[in-house]
Amino acid sequence: MPGDILLSADGLSHRYLDRYPALDSVSVEVREGESLALLGANGSGKSTLLKVLAGLVFCRAGSFEAFGEQVNEETLADHAANARFRSRVGLVFQDPAAQLFSASVSEDLQFGCRQLGLDRTETTRRVADVAGMLGIVDLLDRSPAHLSLGQQKRAAIGTVLVMSPQVLLFDEPTAALDPRTTAWLVGLLTRLRASGRTLVIATHDLGLAAELSDRAIVLGEDHRVVAHAATPLALADQRVLTAANLI
Ligand SMILES: Nc1ncnc2c1ncn2[C@@H]1O[C@H](COP(=O)(O)OP(=O)(O)O)[C@@H](O)[C@H]1O
Ligand SMILES: [Mg+2]
Repeated sequence: MPGDILLSADGLSHRYLDRYPALDSVSVEVREGESLALLGANGSGKSTLLKVLAGLVFCRAGSFEAFGEQVNEETLADHAANARFRSRVGLVFQDPAAQLFSASVSEDLQFGCRQLGLDRTETTRRVADVAGMLGIVDLLDRSPAHLSLGQQKRAAIGTVLVMSPQVLLFDEPTAALDPRTTAWLVGLLTRLRASGRTLVIATHDLGLAAELSDRAIVLGEDHRVVAHAATPLALADQRVLTAANLI
């Protein structure tokens, strides 16, 4: 059942400001239709890896290919290649405020559609569809800055879903959410997965990974991949998890 390789990172190493290590020789493939959990303790490099997969951080060493094309600063400088890539991969940041910057939720949702060059009718349709799906129709006219974290989270997910990307990257999706919003989000991710969307979910929550993913990779505190698991539950090797500071 594994599908085509959509994203392929090979030997990625990254240091912020040439000094602070974040990834060391990390290779990972993401296949069509799978849900991959990216496990690791705080600081292991999960967010950095997601940003690389989203074309927001570029590594000094290693290569990253998406949909059969190289992705780097030079290739993304091409407007058409950039638009093609960004319409197919969407990242939901850990902090929803990082992707909400308009005066209203509605404008934030429209923004993604405009980036794709969609016309007004299609934009209106997508915003209504996504707002309905996320239960935020009553928030469309509200200022994102004045919403609760749970409401902001829904809106931030909406800004990505309106673009209907094939690959969805979620950074610590349930972090800091209350139990009801967490349950809602787990339900949403389950539905997205069932609908065939390709998911990469960064988390340090083993239970969440087991519930939402087919397979897992574990980043260690040395920023290397320390384990691959066919299923997150197969991560029974307590030593690996202890060494990775996950249990
Ligand atoms: N913008 C940045 N500048 C400098 N160091 C950073 C930056 N972002 C992350 N780091 C460092 O890179 C390492 C990996 O961070 P990150 O990818 O955020 O890990 P995780 O998401 O697993 O907590 C950490 O040591 C962190 O301090
Ligand atoms: Mg992180």
